[in-house]
Amino acid sequence: MPIPFTTLEPSLVADPDLAAEGEKRVAWARTHMPVLARLRAELERERPLDGRRIGMCLHVEAKTAVLVETLLAGGAEIAWTGSPATTDDGVAAAMTARDRLRIYALKADDTAAHQAHIGRVLASDPDMLLDNGADLIAGTIERPASRVLAATEETTSGRLRLTGELAGRVPFPVIVINDSPIKLSFESERGIGPATVDGFFRATNTFIAGKTFAVVGFGWCGRSLARTLRAMGAVVMVVEIDPVRALEAAYEGMLVTTIEKAAARADTIITVTGRPGIVRTEHFGLLKDGAMLGNMGHFSTEIDVAGLRAMATGSRMVNTHVEEFDLPGGRRVHLLARGEMLNLTAAIGHQIEVMDLGFALQAHSMRILAQDAASYTPGYQPVPEHVNRAIAEHGLRTMSTVDLD
Ligand SMILES: NC(=O)c1ccc[n+]([C@@H]2O[C@H](COP(=O)([O-])OP(=O)(O)OC[C@H]3O[C@@H](n4cnc5c(N)ncnc54)[C@H](O)[C@@H]3O)[C@@H](O)[C@H]2O)c1
Repeated sequence: MPIPFTTLEPSLVADPDLAAEGEKRVAWARTHMPVLARLRAELERERPLDGRRIGMCLHVEAKTAVLVETLLAGGAEIAWTGSPATTDDGVAAAMTARDRLRIYALKADDTAAHQAHIGRVLASDPDMLLDNGADLIAGTIERPASRVLAATEETTSGRLRLTGELAGRVPFPVIVINDSPIKLSFESERGIGPATVDGFFRATNTFIAGKTFAVVGFGWCGRSLARTLRAMGAVVMVVEIDPVRALEAAYEGMLVTTIEKAAARADTIITVTGRPGIVRTEHFGLLKDGAMLGNMGHFSTEIDVAGLRAMATGSRMVNTHVEEFDLPGGRRVHLLARGEMLNLTAAIGHQIEVMDLGFALQAHSMRILAQDAASYTPGYQPVPEHVNRAIAEHGLRTMSTVDLD
């Protein structure tokens, strides 16, 4: 028997007085998420999640709140946390009013606080997981008494863990939303660039045209960022260890180079590789005076912030999202958004319509897993083709530029 939901630790949010403003942001997102609205109507009718308890780790902000409402409408109970620094405290406060939901997330969370929230979500005794970065999945397999039957995983970094350190160790199926052509083609390839630029502007209020940017990683997300920066007038350098992707970057007119040369020349370096230790102590020594460092990858480990702190002779916050470090020799370096995801820490994440499609994949995948988890083999699973097609067809019907009738 699962622990009764009413006995779970109460929600932990920063400030209940922010609820009214947060509620407005959820309502605005809901208005622009027609694909999820359609799924919500179906789930309300079918109630496939009745009796299911979902442990959830996904940015606590307005679009995710609409996904949570959709899953609640399908009958689920949910214990929800987000990622360090990406929480919208107003949205968290607003969502505490929903039945069958606990939230453990604050904007001020650092990695240690995040891990404590992961522990709270796992202690809720979930039988399904909706994960982002595989923290819940990794935590679950350490717990012998886990009831988890199935999970979804949102992002590339989680997929890398599932097919790397966790390969062969996950005893339940995990549908990886990230690898759906719908997510790659819209969120990663089209959404990331503008959302990162939004974060850059809000953090720095500085111009992009005429500056030199280095984008480290020319994968699905990095190419979106590189193209957007170039379209805005930047000179874009690309650092990429995969020769095929480096060749693609070169054929798109990017300056392809090494991390050392990029560090010495760029006004701003943004990492988006999904791997740790990309910009390290030996690179900090090469940076220009006034250089900026930002990250879009899921974990804040892409820039070695601890190494930067150890090397610096002093540091101070010079703006809400900019920390200035004094380096030996009199240079100053600016770290944006604590090295956490720039689009979600300094701005408000991806565009609503992009997340409507991605979260529709999430809701549909939770539905099919709840109905028949046993028909999927344990470990990594792609989004089934019939789910991709169904969401694409719903999506087409919502667009003013499409006329298929
Ligand atoms: N901030 C957000 O909202 C958001 C949204 C989606 C994805 N992400 C994250 O962005 C990251 C990248 O995702 P993706 O889908 O583009 O992954 P991807 O695997 O398609 O691309 C990553 C690229 O980085 C390259 N790379 C790896 N190590 C490198 C190194 N040392 N130097 C240079 N290049 C290197 C790889 O060869 C690859 O081409 C992941 O952490 C993902 O979870 C963040």
